[in-house]
Amino acid sequence: MTNAMTTKTRDTTIFAKLAALLLVGLMMIGTAAASEEAGLEAANVRLDDVASMKRGARLFFNYCSGCHSLEYLRYSRLAEDLKLDPKDVEKNLVFNGARIGDHAISHMPADKAATWFGKAPPDLSLEARARGSDWIYNYLKSFYLDPARPLGWNNNVFENASMPNVLWELQGLQVAEQVPAEAGHDATIGKLELKTPGQQTPAQFDQTVRDLTAFLQYAGEPAALQRESMGIWVLLYLAFFTLIAYLLKLEFWKDVH
Ligand code: HEC
Repeated sequence: MTNAMTTKTRDTTIFAKLAALLLVGLMMIGTAAASEEAGLEAANVRLDDVASMKRGARLFFNYCSGCHSLEYLRYSRLAEDLKLDPKDVEKNLVFNGARIGDHAISHMPADKAATWFGKAPPDLSLEARARGSDWIYNYLKSFYLDPARPLGWNNNVFENASMPNVLWELQGLQVAEQVPAEAGHDATIGKLELKTPGQQTPAQFDQTVRDLTAFLQYAGEPAALQRESMGIWVLLYLAFFTLIAYLLKLEFWKDVH
């Protein structure tokens, strides 16, 4: 009797441990994308939020694709992954006469762009992998007016970036607080302040930038969408077979006790 009791308690503990492991696994899937980088506000993008990535795609092709390519991404793949009608993609997202099977290449001539902006706009396919989503999110929110720069814009996250703030109509105009030089340090800039409001409230603009970042995160690794949805199934499968194994064990040992 005592023996049977201890076996049962041990079984329950093992089962509880397995269940805890599975739970941790499930939680890791949820938080993997949300890891924070030092000093940056978390972007909190979610690859299971297809609506956000759809809005991001629309924003990207309206505001960014004139200068930036996504050379590893085909429009057809995008349509499939984001559950968009290929015809709508061709009609609403492709602005340069490309076909649905083509890669998303900008028609900005690189040599001219370098003359216009001081630097050619880089391809953004791997940007989220190179910089991380938090960086992109903060970068897009950190443009401010700076008359000393050739195009009149500077950026608090990427100092002297040669990209203009293409989202200024939505965000409004930001200025930087000037911190004067003191013994021990040069003049620097402090907090950014919204001087002229844009078409969107700061909260709406945060969402706009989050959507764009989510889209770039997706574009950096389209296969991640499938992997994430598959991961859940793998865990459920494991949970199911753990249960079966446990029930079988109970069944086998029943007669032994
Ligand atoms: C008018 C052309 C132009 C448009 C439109 C534009 N960019 Fe840029 N972008 C640039 C240039 C030029 C650079 C290079 C900046 C540098 O290195 O100084 C750049 C750099 C970047 C970088 C940083 C790349 C790095 O070095 O890691 C990101 C991210 C980026 N752009 C995102 C966007 C997004 C998102 C949009 C749309 C909302 C956009 N850009 C629209 C010209 C543009």
